[in-house]
Formats: sequence, C-alpha cells, structure tokens
Amino acid sequence: MAPTNRDIQAATDYHNASKYVVHSEGHVEEEFLGSPPDADSHAYVQDIEDRPFEFKVYETLEPIPLPREFPPASLPAMEALSRTGAEPGEALALPDLAALARIALLSNGLLGRSFTTRNGRVVEYRTAGGGGGLYHLELYFVCGDLPDLAAGVYHYGAHDHSLRRLRAGDYRQVLVEASGSEPAIARAPVTMVMTSTFWRNAWYYRARAYRHTFWDAGTELAHAFTTAATLGLPASVVLGYADRPVNDLLGVDGAREAAVALLALGRSDAPVPPAAVATPLNYPTHPISRREHSFSAITAMSQASQLATGGEAAAWRANPLRREPRPPQGPLTTLAPLADEALPDAAWYDLVFKRRSVRHYDAERPLPFASFSTVLDRSTRGFAADCLAPDAPPLHDLYLIVHAVDGLADGVYLYHREVNAVELVRAGQFSVDATRIACDQEYAGAAHVNAYYLTGLAPALERFGNRGYRLAQLESALYGSRLQLAAHALGLGTVGTTSFDDEVIEFFTPRAGAMSYMFASVFGIKRPRAAS
Ligand SMILES: Cc1cc2nc3c(=O)[nH]c(=O)nc-3n(C[C@H](O)[C@H](O)[C@H](O)COP(=O)(O)O)c2cc1C
Repeated sequence: MAPTNRDIQAATDYHNASKYVVHSEGHVEEEFLGSPPDADSHAYVQDIEDRPFEFKVYETLEPIPLPREFPPASLPAMEALSRTGAEPGEALALPDLAALARIALLSNGLLGRSFTTRNGRVVEYRTAGGGGGLYHLELYFVCGDLPDLAAGVYHYGAHDHSLRRLRAGDYRQVLVEASGSEPAIARAPVTMVMTSTFWRNAWYYRARAYRHTFWDAGTELAHAFTTAATLGLPASVVLGYADRPVNDLLGVDGAREAAVALLALGRSDAPVPPAAVATPLNYPTHPISRREHSFSAITAMSQASQLATGGEAAAWRANPLRREPRPPQGPLTTLAPLADEALPDAAWYDLVFKRRSVRHYDAERPLPFASFSTVLDRSTRGFAADCLAPDAPPLHDLYLIVHAVDGLADGVYLYHREVNAVELVRAGQFSVDATRIACDQEYAGAAHVNAYYLTGLAPALERFGNRGYRLAQLESALYGSRLQLAAHALGLGTVGTTSFDDEVIEFFTPRAGAMSYMFASVFGIKRPRAAS
C-alpha cells in the first residue's frame, strides 16, 4: 500500500535521497545526489535538447489581456515586504482584475531580461528568481464575481501576461470543501493556486527538484504577499487541502503537474455559493519537451504527502507546532535597524524590475550594522498561513556566517527574533567554509552574510506528517526570499543558494546537531562587475 501522510519515513527517505553529498574518489571530489545515492538520478542522463519550455500555453483558449501599468502604490517596498498578510484585519477587501494582474506579474511574470542556453534557446527571466532559471510554477485564480471579472477558474499565461478561462462560474466551494472550510479560503473572493510541473524542474535538479518546488514556491509567494500588501489585501498561505479535488478543479493530473500551495486573497462577507460539478478538462497545451522523465523519489514524496479529504486537511492544521524559543547560550548583540523614516522609499514595482541575482561581493567594504540589522529585522516577521500559529517562532532557526559587518566580530551567529539580537556562536573567519558548504560556490565566501535556515525535521514531521516536509521547505524559502528582497531594497546584492546538506549541519554543530538544512540566502555590498 502507498504510504500515507502519517508514514513519515517517506519524508526522511526523500530528504536523504535528495541530499547533495561530496564523495571523495581518490583525489577527485565528486558530487552525488542522495545518501545512499539515488539510483534513478544516477541513471539519468541530462540532454540539453530536452530542456523544458518554461511556459504552460493553452493553445485554443482566448487570452484575456491584463493591464501592465498600475497607479503607484502608497506603501514603500520595505514596509510591504515585512507585512505578514494579516494586517488588513477584518476589513473587507475585494480584488479587481488589475489586482490579479499585479500579483501575477510581480510574482510569476516576465522581467524583461533574457539569457541564452547552451543550445541557443532564449529564456526570459521572471520577476521572482527561480532555481536554475527553470520556471516550473504556474498560477491559477479561482474567483467569485469580481468588479470587472466574471466568476471562474483562470490560468495566468506568463508568456503573454493574460488570463485564460478554464471554467465559467463560481467554483470557490470546491476549495472551501477541499480545505476543510479553512477560514481564509471560506472568506476569500479569490484564491490563487500555484502548481509545479515537476519535469520542468527535475530536468536539471533530478530528485532534488521536489525541494526546489517549495523553494521556488516560497520565493514567488514572498513576492505575492508583498504585492498583496501594497494593494491592502489580506493574504494567507494554505497548505492544508485535499490534493485530488484541487488538481481536478484545475484540470491537472496531480502527478506531472500538481497544486503545491494556495494563497487566499482579499476578504468578503458574502457566503460562497454551491459549485457546479467540476467536469474533466481537456484543453490542449503547447508541448514542453521532446521527452519527459519522471523521478521515482519525487513521485513517491508527492504522493506520500497528500491529504485525502477536507476533514483530513482541517485535522492536519488544527494543532500547529509551537516551538519554544531557544535561550541564548553566548554573548548577544542587539540589532539596530534603521528607523521607519530612514528606510528607503523605493516602490515595490520599481524594485522588482531592478531585481537580479548578485554573485559578486566586496568584503573590502564593511557592511554597515544598520543594514545588517534592517535586513534581519524586516525579513523575519512571519507570514499568515493556515498551519502556523501567528505568535509562535518559525519552524527554523536562522544561523548566520558573518564576514566584514561593522560592529560584529567575524563568526557564526544565531538570530533570536524574540529579543531582536544575534548570539555569537563561534568567532572566526569562515569564508572558506562558507564557499565549501555552499557546494563550492565562491560567491558565498565573498558575501558579507550567509543566512542558513535550519529546521528540526523530526518534530515538524511528527506534528504535520509528510506534508510537514512541504511546509518546512516552503517556510524557509519564503523567509529566505524576504531576506533577499530586504537586502535588495537597501541597494545590497543578494542571491539564494543550494548547499551540501551534511556539511552544513556539521559546520553548525554542536549547536545545530538536531537540525536539517532547508535553504540559504546570502547578501552583502555588491562589487561592480567591471572590477571583478
Ligand atoms: C530557490 C533558489 C535557489 C537558488 N540557488 C542558487 C544557487 O545555488 N546558486 C546560484 O548561483 N544561484 C541560485 N539561485 C539564483 C537563480 O539562479 C536565479 O534566480 C535565476 O537564474 C534567475 O536569475 P535572476 O534571479 O537574476 O532573475 C537560486 C534561486 C532560487 C530562487
């Protein structure tokens, strides 16, 4: 029998199967996937000619064009990116077509830059970063009647910035039932459903792609939360939903393409009407690859982390994990973030279109302590989610490798949100280690700060079952993406990074002995490219 959400060995097995591991072969250091090695990934031979197309294009549906020009938002980016999504309180808020356009464009749309792959294909960069520039996520909107959009189920076409209607009519009740009447979904005029097409990601990352699914989802959701904040819309992530009815509603099979997160948007006091039966959809879409390969570790993990019914979803979220803050054991330095009036007033829209991953840092120039403090302070305020208690510490601990920050000795630090301070765990100059544990990527050693998100997987899986693995990865990535956005808002350089799992934990041990590596982001003062 296939494992259920409670058979948490499945998540442990997946985590091990998708570790980057260094194996010494004589004098040659080789990188393997999986501990023990994942057989499927090792038998797979990547072919550039199979690189998947980055868009889902419905070939026969009429596009509904969306606006691209928007009135300026009153909330500056730094303020918006640090909101949790719960700030609008109980106020009613009805998004319109322009609001959906803005959310879709600024989290999943085209950025207006491109790169050329090894076989000469031009790939468009997107507004949110994505591991490997593979862009495997799709957005759908399930809405009741909005001021200028009829109730329906719509797909966002990033390639031409338009919606295509998959179903006419109000289908929100399907989501209400699938989520076990989750309160934010039950009151949302619109829910955004994010899917991943696993092959579009696994072509490069093999079995590890399921982690990237939730890393990239967290990254795009950080953008969506920020955009919603600039629009005054409440927003809440929902991971507790029965998978099958949500996938059926979108017309995706749940194996090749599957819903990975819901985002409830806005608030209405009108009851959600009953929905018509969601009959199967069969619209042709543009082929994405000459050949597709499915990785058994991904299929197994995706299935083992499913919820079957709305009742199971409601029970899943009923008792969120509440971690106790870990008492500091070493000297603390209290953060000194910039005062509100000293924060940059850059607009979110402008900031997004100036965003790019930065891999050149100038540690000859120290990072001001106020910048360091502001990035941490603004990126750690949490986000509204069905399964996280708003007043509880996050599932992860945030470890920092610090190099050339004014007022701080170089070393390893642990961030304590409850006192807004960093604790010195180990003094020393660790640039060489920072490069090594980040899969030998030199930019990590050059950056002023490496921010490591480490989660105790055992208690998370114990409480949330295998679905806790989705949550743990997404949560860390959302925080990590916010950290990047806060750094970018201050004019700093920043990028996400993958790492060697066991080397990371070994490096942060003994303090982090029971934790697992989830995600990392780095930031610092940019080095001009010409000088590199
Ligand atoms: C989840 C995630 C993980 C990433 N990991 C790495 C990494 O390990 N090394 C790296 O150089 N870039 C990494 N990146 C940056 C991506 O390569 C980058 O976002 C993508 O190429 C698009 O470029 P852009 O961010 O400049 O738009 C990562 C990005 C994301 C969102």
